[in-house]
Amino acid sequence: MTEHHHRQAPDKARMKVLAKALIKYLRPYKARLLQAAVSMIVLAAIKNAVIYISGPVIQGVFVNKDMHMLRLIVIGLPLLFTLRMLVEYANGYLMSWVGQRAVQDIRGDLFEHIHRLSLEFYWRKRSSDVMSRVINDLNNVQSTVQFIPLYGIRDVLTVVACVALLFYINWKLALIAVLVLPAIAALLGVLGKKMRKASAESNVIVGEISHRFQESLQGITVVKAFNYEDQAIARFKLSNDAYFSKMMRYLRATAMSGPVMEFISGMVLIAIIYLSGRAIFDGTMTTAHFFSFIAAYVTAYVPLKNIGNMNSKLQQGMAAWERIYQILEERPAVVVKTETKNIDQLAGRIEFKGVGYKYPSRDTQVLKDLSFTINPGEVAAFVGPSGSGKTTIVHMLLRFFDPVSGRIEVDGHDMLDLDTTDLRAHMGLVTQDTILFDDSVYKNITIGRPGASMDEVIEAAKAADAHAFIEAMPQGYETVLGERGVKLSGGQRQRLAIARAIIKKPKILLLDEATSNLDTASEQAVQGAIERILGGRTVVMVAHRLSTVKNADKIFVLKKGELAETGTHEELLRLGGIYKGLYEAQT
Ligand SMILES: Nc1ncnc2c1ncn2[C@@H]1O[C@H](COP(=O)(O)OP(=O)(O)OP(=O)(O)O)[C@@H](O)[C@H]1O
Ligand SMILES: [Mg+2]
Repeated sequence: MTEHHHRQAPDKARMKVLAKALIKYLRPYKARLLQAAVSMIVLAAIKNAVIYISGPVIQGVFVNKDMHMLRLIVIGLPLLFTLRMLVEYANGYLMSWVGQRAVQDIRGDLFEHIHRLSLEFYWRKRSSDVMSRVINDLNNVQSTVQFIPLYGIRDVLTVVACVALLFYINWKLALIAVLVLPAIAALLGVLGKKMRKASAESNVIVGEISHRFQESLQGITVVKAFNYEDQAIARFKLSNDAYFSKMMRYLRATAMSGPVMEFISGMVLIAIIYLSGRAIFDGTMTTAHFFSFIAAYVTAYVPLKNIGNMNSKLQQGMAAWERIYQILEERPAVVVKTETKNIDQLAGRIEFKGVGYKYPSRDTQVLKDLSFTINPGEVAAFVGPSGSGKTTIVHMLLRFFDPVSGRIEVDGHDMLDLDTTDLRAHMGLVTQDTILFDDSVYKNITIGRPGASMDEVIEAAKAADAHAFIEAMPQGYETVLGERGVKLSGGQRQRLAIARAIIKKPKILLLDEATSNLDTASEQAVQGAIERILGGRTVVMVAHRLSTVKNADKIFVLKKGELAETGTHEELLRLGGIYKGLYEAQT
């Protein structure tokens, strides 16, 4: 829904939405912001006081040789500078605090939000792209949130105060000085748009770069085995070069704004010196006023130049915020109704009624008008060629996505009337590829049932034929499994996944190729244990190895998303169709 924003800079209406959303994160810290604002005003006042007295002071000390004035300065100025130091510190501290807090909130919201999204989001987005947004883009947002209000407001205040002072001292000269402001604003506007566009494009490439890194890191065995290094490096170079040129486009615009502002201000300064010099010669301006005027102008000059740089930071920050906000505004595809049916007690009956499904990215239907019933306590098996829709069915039972047509009922309730959390509380899943978390064996198993005792964990591990190899590991159940559980073999990982599902004692157990990585002997042991512990519960299993499904109460043979045959092992053999063919091929 937001894909079209990807490659272009946000337009005006969008910028408004983005600004509003960002301000929402600053609102809770109103009190601190107010304190910071007060300190900024004090700071601007101090600066102006220093400027304003500079003229008379120079006049008094150097022209009139007033000793009294000199003493006053030696005592008064240090006090003023001490105050300025303290206020400046408070100002910096407060704004950093607000910036860090706001970004902490955004980061927290992002993490929470991606957990609420449906699977459909993960089909569309690369995980590395999301990562690059969370890290790289959020970093940019952070410096924007922290420094724009800090330096931005301070510098704008300083400029405004200085301009006011200029008018106070000599409004005619001041008018000349501010005449260039509209020109500067126009320049900043044009450059800002350029920066935002280039910055948005470079952020997309940063996402690509992190994707290339992740891909190579994860697939390093294949990269090496197939001598794919050179090609991977060449592909990376493309992204890396593209990033350089996009970044340079941004930096060209950025590098231009400072010097141009400086040039314009310098020209104005020359004009002022010329005009005020003449005014002094004519006797219409005092020397003291001349010094104060120049001091005010020069003081405004540095912050004015900063505003140019800040503009570039702001554009970069907004382009980054756009990418983060795209994730925050994503809505889950599976919508849970506000009024859901209570399913504390679940018998475990599953019914598909004319279910059809089509993945959003595909044109063809993967499931077509599928109808079947699985009764409580039954073991149902799905078999069929690769790509026939078995995993899709399992995922639909978990309500990872909703049918395009037809309906799925659990215990007679339309699945759409159930809360996904309630529903999944009754389900156990062992997937085709095992996901282990970077945590101890114990923790990885108790994901199935938080707070389970060690005895229960051991019981589940024994049932999954995992106890022996866990015991043999250096720290036993406390052994930390590395990234993606790399320290384990495929079969060992799968056993842990089975233990995780068993300990949950779910009403409906979903086994998608759950024992495909086990040898035949331990597969049989594990199946026996599952039946012993989970007897009387509904089991939906998917398997390629037909010996696994032989004892199932019902076997559904799928072909291209449709049910081709249904029956028990014996019935299907007698039928002499697809199943018989598959079975004979395997034995
Ligand atoms: N996220 C997805 N987006 C688009 N198409 C998908 C997605 N997941 C699966 N498909 C497609 O849907 C079809 C069914 O896939 P599914 O994973 O259900 O097959 P399967 O029967 O489990 O196969 P296997 O035995 O190989 O695991 C396949 O053609 C697959 O390409
Ligand atoms: Mg599958």
